[in-house]
Amino acid sequence: IWTPASIVEQAVTAVREKVGPEDRVILGLSGGVDSSVAAVLCHEALGDRLTCIFVDNGLLREGEGDAVERMFRQHFHLNLIHVKAADRFLDALAGVSDPEQKRKIIGRVFIEVFEEEARKIPGVKWLVQGTLYPDVIESVSFKGPSAVIKSHHNVGGLPERMQLGLVEPLRELFKDEVRAAGEALKMPREVLYRQPFPGPGMAVRCIGAVSVEKLRVLREADAIFEEEVRAAGLYEELWQSFCVLLPVRTVGVMGDERTYDEVIVLRAVHSTDGMTADWARLPYDLVGRASARIINEVRGVNRVVLDVSSKPPSTIEWE
Ligand code: XMP
Repeated sequence: IWTPASIVEQAVTAVREKVGPEDRVILGLSGGVDSSVAAVLCHEALGDRLTCIFVDNGLLREGEGDAVERMFRQHFHLNLIHVKAADRFLDALAGVSDPEQKRKIIGRVFIEVFEEEARKIPGVKWLVQGTLYPDVIESVSFKGPSAVIKSHHNVGGLPERMQLGLVEPLRELFKDEVRAAGEALKMPREVLYRQPFPGPGMAVRCIGAVSVEKLRVLREADAIFEEEVRAAGLYEELWQSFCVLLPVRTVGVMGDERTYDEVIVLRAVHSTDGMTADWARLPYDLVGRASARIINEVRGVNRVVLDVSSKPPSTIEWE
């Protein structure tokens, strides 16, 4: 029978058997559940021979870079390279408003940055990927949207270019088994039950062209909404809940002054796999609190609206 402890044990043994005793191994850490569990598992198996590369693209949620540092470097003592590459991503994205174009640019810069860092590590022979069983199935039998949308997390032709072998410690597991393994590895709930977050991050939630200022507004609003959703006890029940920043300004009034400021959308959905989704009937007092706080606390926002569309025909993200 499979228990969380035996899942971990088998995976650790398999990694040790595959990787030679002197080989060095790299892993792209995103902060998401899969790459996080893969990292801690492989660290268990390989210790310091594993190096994790975390690319901060400047499109992450509030405090996420620091949280990854604290968790993996300070708590788990992983060998972590934290690449602060926000400027490179934002320069490449300057003036670009087409969603697919944004995704392509982010994917390309990610591969460039990742490869540069990987080449600095001597003696690397293996690349870890957090592929799950459903991804394995999907990539052979189904080339639907999620095959396309996951392409970003793929490091392109890197394994071939650098002649790296692939280590996929989660390849036989479903998501709930990955979480169970993470619990057996004493990983915090915060990481294991984090809502999915797209690779292109805030760039596809900042509709139209992205800028440092727009990202600041979106990140602050999003942090408030997450705080309120958590306080209402709904965070883990929702598939995703986040803010979107619209590319229009609207008129408002503050004191005696007329304002002409940004609009934030609250988006929350229920789903089991992201392929279909139902808009979440959030309690009105939660919606009201989030709205009031965002308008009061985030400089530059004077209006908050609620997205009440399901997928299909809408999508979860706005871009
Ligand atoms: P949509 O918007 O297509 O999203 O209903 C379905 C699920 O996929 C996530 N998503 C992405 N994930 N890169 C990713 O890694 C992407 O470009 C991307 N676009 C959407 C989305 O957050 C939702 O969970």
